[in-house]
Amino acid sequence: MELINALAQQYAEKYTSPEDELLKEIADYTYNHHAHSHMLSGHLQGKVLEMISCMIRPKRVLEVGTFTGYSALCLAKGLTEDGELHTIELREDDGARAKAYFDRSIFKEKIILHIGNALEIVDELNESWDLVFIDADKENYSNYFHRIFPQVKPGGFILADKRKECQGHSAIQ
Ligand SMILES: C[S@@+](CC[C@H](N)C(=O)[O-])C[C@H]1O[C@@H](n2cnc3c(N)ncnc32)[C@H](O)[C@@H]1O
Repeated sequence: MELINALAQQYAEKYTSPEDELLKEIADYTYNHHAHSHMLSGHLQGKVLEMISCMIRPKRVLEVGTFTGYSALCLAKGLTEDGELHTIELREDDGARAKAYFDRSIFKEKIILHIGNALEIVDELNESWDLVFIDADKENYSNYFHRIFPQVKPGGFILADKRKECQGHSAIQ
């Protein structure tokens, strides 16, 4: 099922604000060198994540599925001055690459990367979330939802990426 009309997507891609240099570098690297580049949020979805985060102004953000770090850097843009974003990645090589990008960004001190299985790590994080982005391990989405829901502040938000592997279009619900 097509969730986003192709013409609407093209229109939004044409007129959305430009990508930062660092995000462009991450996207270029990922599309050119990563075997699973289709997993990247990309420009338009990244802008949607940034917009939502800037509207919420979260103090604590949780991301499940760091990959090469693109969406974490988009979500970090809305963080409060004392805000933190925790992001969890299973694969060490992707985590290391993401960390190198985080360290070059203005969010170096605000993004905390956890390497390991998010299903275990989410229970160990003693935080209350304003905004959660679930974007990994699709078959466990309902498990993540039920575990994370009690940790979300009243009025907080959970976003879940609905992409199927290898599909070009994506949607956030
Ligand atoms: C769709 S990608 C994330 C894309 C990223 N959020 C972005 O927009 O650029 C999913 C990532 O989750 C990771 N992953 C898969 N299962 C996981 C798990 N159980 N715990 C943590 N990370 C996992 C994968 O290694 C992959 O890097």
